[in-house]
Amino acid sequence: MSMPQPEPVDHCGYLPAAVDPSALALNENPFPPLPSVRSALVEALGSANRYPEFLPQRMRSLLAAQLGVRDEQVVIGAGATGVIMQVLQALTEPGDAIVLTTPTFDGYPIFAQMARLRSVTVPLDVHGHHDLEAMADAARTARVVVLCRPHNPTGTIEPVADVERFLARVEPGTTVLLDEAYVEFLSPAERLDTRSLVLRFPNVVVVRTFSKAYGLAGLRIGYGFCAPELGRRLWNMQLPFGIGVTGLVAAAACYRAEDELQHRIRIIGAERRRLRAQLSKLGVYSTDARANFVYLPGVRPWREVFDSAGLRVRHYADGGARVTVGTRQSTRAVLTAVSTAALR
Ligand SMILES: Cc1ncc(COP(=O)(O)O)c(C=O)c1O
Repeated sequence: MSMPQPEPVDHCGYLPAAVDPSALALNENPFPPLPSVRSALVEALGSANRYPEFLPQRMRSLLAAQLGVRDEQVVIGAGATGVIMQVLQALTEPGDAIVLTTPTFDGYPIFAQMARLRSVTVPLDVHGHHDLEAMADAARTARVVVLCRPHNPTGTIEPVADVERFLARVEPGTTVLLDEAYVEFLSPAERLDTRSLVLRFPNVVVVRTFSKAYGLAGLRIGYGFCAPELGRRLWNMQLPFGIGVTGLVAAAACYRAEDELQHRIRIIGAERRRLRAQLSKLGVYSTDARANFVYLPGVRPWREVFDSAGLRVRHYADGGARVTVGTRQSTRAVLTAVSTAALR
């Protein structure tokens, strides 16, 4: 007699596949959480009946120690998204202007709308680089200006000296959101010295996340840091009980597993270099991307190419496509899609 099988539980459709080589649209990490992070999470689930810390003070201290800054310089949010909204809520009034590039991370136009800001856009050049002069000009009458480094969707970075010149040009009353959601993919030489920048430029807020290199997109945890005075203003907008215990515990576990995570980050970086080199051999130009994605300007019918291969990538209005770097299997699928389309 066969035993009755339990009905599969659908969890309201809330459990995406952890491993999915076709999921290349959201710049997620292809690796599921490390065993040590998973076991910390399982432990955390056992106390889900309890609230998390009222304000995430212990995580603030942990992040401050990691960054080499003071506690009052750090704020924490539900992903970088939460931190960005916290900044906009604390520092802007409806009707203020925010300077964004086009294209940029899709979230920004939505955040601007939520905060009832007026978006002023500055186009990137053909290689996906910022026109920092034009952005500084536009920032003269704006309350906030956003600079993503590496940029999404192009993955490009502006040279350190150019960024510093840009920051020096922005008025102290205009906040610069320096979005470093992908900073961990940069080599030390490519990084800005943000710890000293926020002290030299007290209008700069650096925003980072555990969603990308640390692979915790589903747990919604990110942070920002800035000069102490601004940090205190932003901490006043810290949502009580706003960061769930799973995110707090998993972020702490990531720092204990830094070596293993750095290894994964190196694998993703190597895969990106390989993907770009192979695309180039196929005659496909991609921008000089330094994060966990590549950007293909709209010179081919990318929607058709990737849809017909069953690959989910992010498409742009001008025909460009942003492809997340996944495992070797994903790279093969992307290259096969591109070369098959070329033969048709
Ligand atoms: C440039 C940039 N900033 C912020 C975010 C938001 O990330 P999070 O998941 O931490 O909210 C993203 C996500 O794709 C991003 O690309």
